[in-house]
Amino acid sequence: MYADKCILTGVKPTGKPHIGNYFGAIKPAIEMGHQAQRFNLFIADYHAINFMKAPELLQKEIKEIACIYLAAGLKPETDYFYRQSDIPEINEITTILYAFTPKGFMNKSHAYKACVERNLAENKPADDGVNMGLYTYPTLMASDILAMDTDIVPVGKDQIQHVEIARDIAGAVNAYYDKELLKLPEYVTADNVAVLPGTDGRKMSKSYNNVIPIFEDEKVIKKAVYSTVTDSKPIEEPKNPDDVIVYQIYKCIASAQKAEEMAQGLREGKLGYGHTKAMLLDAVLNEVREAKEVYDYYMAHYDEACGFLEEGAAKARPYAQKTLQRLKETLFG
Ligand code: TRP
Repeated sequence: MYADKCILTGVKPTGKPHIGNYFGAIKPAIEMGHQAQRFNLFIADYHAINFMKAPELLQKEIKEIACIYLAAGLKPETDYFYRQSDIPEINEITTILYAFTPKGFMNKSHAYKACVERNLAENKPADDGVNMGLYTYPTLMASDILAMDTDIVPVGKDQIQHVEIARDIAGAVNAYYDKELLKLPEYVTADNVAVLPGTDGRKMSKSYNNVIPIFEDEKVIKKAVYSTVTDSKPIEEPKNPDDVIVYQIYKCIASAQKAEEMAQGLREGKLGYGHTKAMLLDAVLNEVREAKEVYDYYMAHYDEACGFLEEGAAKARPYAQKTLQRLKETLFG
């Protein structure tokens, strides 16, 4: 389906992913990327500095995210894996795109609007703490996408609007010069991927403090798994698996067959919550065992990961250079 396409996605280096990110976003994006002719995956470090100013912290986050993607199955030899900041043409293209970006697009952008709403709710001035990087974020993101002649951007629902903005900006440039200077990207949301609930049943999210971490010590993972909320029904009482949070998490991770075993055990009153938690812990640990080895390896040999990032930038950069050249030739005559 994607054999002649370029799939691109960017990831902000913002804190360690949890199993919700890992199974719900990272792995599916890589799997989809591997069906494409060219798969670009980059670390969005220019996006990160909008809210992360300490270099040590930024570098730590970049390192972790790079190692996590390598562990999750990224193929650095064939994929295009790079740091945004290693491709300066992206920033030049951004400047060009500004000239075609209606200010109203930025006003309407979710990320900015969410900040404004938060400020107003706290009785602060609307733009309190809003820097221009955050405000113009969708234009830089458009450039990330358009620079690379991207066909498809796999996204979570929160990013759909950004891809639409990229499309609209590209359309405006093309329409103005009446030629296809920029490829119009499309987004794909992975519908088949379930949203993993957290240990309290709400969506797994750091802000809810309900996450099961990944690539941590077994003890830490165990503590999180066992904190999953359950009711006080005794073992023998038949339970509807749909009401059991442990099962809801489990079915996103374990094989269909194993998930059915748990469901059946619950329905028949043969499985208590202690058992189901042990099964969930087992599944989490098993599913990430090999990946954790890869993660630990690159954390200890980060220079190798950096080598991949540099090679990736060298492969990806010519695309951005060509896009920029095309734009400049047309714009400046
Ligand atoms: N905005 C994305 C996020 O917050 C990260 C991102 C930056 C991105 N540039 C991109 C995603 C380009 C897809 C394509 O997760």
